[in-house]
Amino acid sequence: MSKFNFEELSQSVEVHNKVFKPNLTSQLSFETAISKIKNNFDVLDLGCGTGIIGVAIMKNFSNLRMYCSDLDEQSIKITKQNFMQNNLKADIRSGNLFDPWAGKKFDYIVNDVSGISSLIATNSPWFGSNVPCDSGEDGSSLTLAIVKESPKYLNKNGSIQIPLISLSNTKKIIKRTKEIFSEIKIVKSKDWFLPKEMEGLKKMMYELKSKSYIDFEEKFGKIICKTSIAVCNKPRNAQ
Ligand SMILES: C[S@@+](CC[C@H](N)C(=O)[O-])C[C@H]1O[C@@H](n2cnc3c(N)ncnc32)[C@H](O)[C@@H]1O
Repeated sequence: MSKFNFEELSQSVEVHNKVFKPNLTSQLSFETAISKIKNNFDVLDLGCGTGIIGVAIMKNFSNLRMYCSDLDEQSIKITKQNFMQNNLKADIRSGNLFDPWAGKKFDYIVNDVSGISSLIATNSPWFGSNVPCDSGEDGSSLTLAIVKESPKYLNKNGSIQIPLISLSNTKKIIKRTKEIFSEIKIVKSKDWFLPKEMEGLKKMMYELKSKSYIDFEEKFGKIICKTSIAVCNKPRNAQ
């Protein structure tokens, strides 16, 4: 059980109109992370946005070393402010994927780098046109690049968690992840309705669905998507 729930924690973090607006994936990522992290861990919040997940994790543990990174400079600025305002410490760096962390190893990596179809992301209320999302039409590129590189950045017995969002090719992500990790467990899952302001994307979403790039259901005129968080352990080739 967390000491603080995510909604309370969201109040202590400032958002910015050019930075990713925390959403359900942020919440499920946080809830999964605190069920797996232990005191004294070195934790990486990869794709930190406002820093919400890192801040929320730190508030639940007395002794953790937190590291945060994001490609977007504006996100890094806001993350630094949010840690400072909450009197929390973290090593916060900007850069692409694992580039800022050459030679470093972590006990737990919370990956929340953009993981939905780039075509949908740019028209969503969370990303808008400013937040980087070079995830490809099927949304898998960044997640797959991270999963492939991650064994190099994990301590022995370390884990990485990844979001599996149905607005990306989750089957492809799971298949490739299983080639790299011998254990992948879905820890949290939740269905959600597509926000009203995105209903104009329905035609494009059906096209992406017909190519098996994304998946969703439509019931009573409402689009239902799913977000799960998977925890991956035991890299097949530990490095
Ligand atoms: C889904 S948002 C998550 C933000 C934050 N974790 C949250 O829950 O609000 C994805 C984040 O990944 C960042 N990002 C996109 N491409 C990236 C890359 N190549 N390397 C590192 N971060 C990236 C974006 O700038 C954005 O802040």
